[in-house]
Amino acid sequence: MIVCVCHNVSERKIRQAVDEGLTTMPQLREKLDVGTCCGKCHSCAKTVLRECLEER
Ligand code: FES
Repeated sequence: MIVCVCHNVSERKIRQAVDEGLTTMPQLREKLDVGTCCGKCHSCAKTVLRECLEER
């Protein structure tokens, strides 16, 4: 599933980033540019991030 359309960031990419040790939205923004364009993906990205962290 694509989370951030502007930067073509999928849920899988976010999961990979979490596997690599990222834990916060600012870190995700820096690495993948999630939410840095229109910002519409912010809450979805946050939800995916939280789910990934809970599954760890
Ligand atoms: Fe992510 Fe636009 S959809 S910044």
